Amino acid sequence: MTTRTLLVTAAALVLSAGWAQAGDAKAGLKRYLKNCVNCHGKTGKGMASFPPLKDRDAAYVTDRLKKYRAKEKVGPNSAVMMSWAIKLSDEEIANLAAYVSTTFKSKSQ
Ligand code: HEC
Repeated sequence: MTTRTLLVTAAALVLSAGWAQAGDAKAGLKRYLKNCVNCHGKTGKGMASFPPLKDRDAAYVTDRLKKYRAKEKVGPNSAVMMSWAIKLSDEEIANLAAYVSTTFKSKSQ
């Protein structure tokens, strides 16, 4: 590896680690109870066509919420999520990702 490649790799690692941990789970909880709990449930198990959020890591949740916010369709019911995600700031997305990824775990893990 060249020095340049090493530097780029190190920068990417720092960025992705910072990105995944940047959220405030407590603030995420508040927001979750306000806007998300009705569909995804108190324990993140979802219901009917509302998918469970269990075992989703922060990067996954962040990616999904940003896609919905950008009006990108990722599943059959993305339109439902777009109307919620459009109101979220980057910070709120990070907070929600922190909350979801640290709170909703299936027992087997
Ligand atoms: C009106 C019901 C409803 C509300 C409120 C809602 N969601 Fe969703 N959510 C859905 C549906 C339906 C999908 C599946 C969308 C699709 O098909 O792409 C989804 C998908 C998701 C996904 C992707 C799940 C996966 O497995 O890929 C995440 C993450 C998510 N929602 C988080 C949230 C957060 C955070 C909030 C609060 C800001 C929220 N949702 C509010 C109904 C809802």
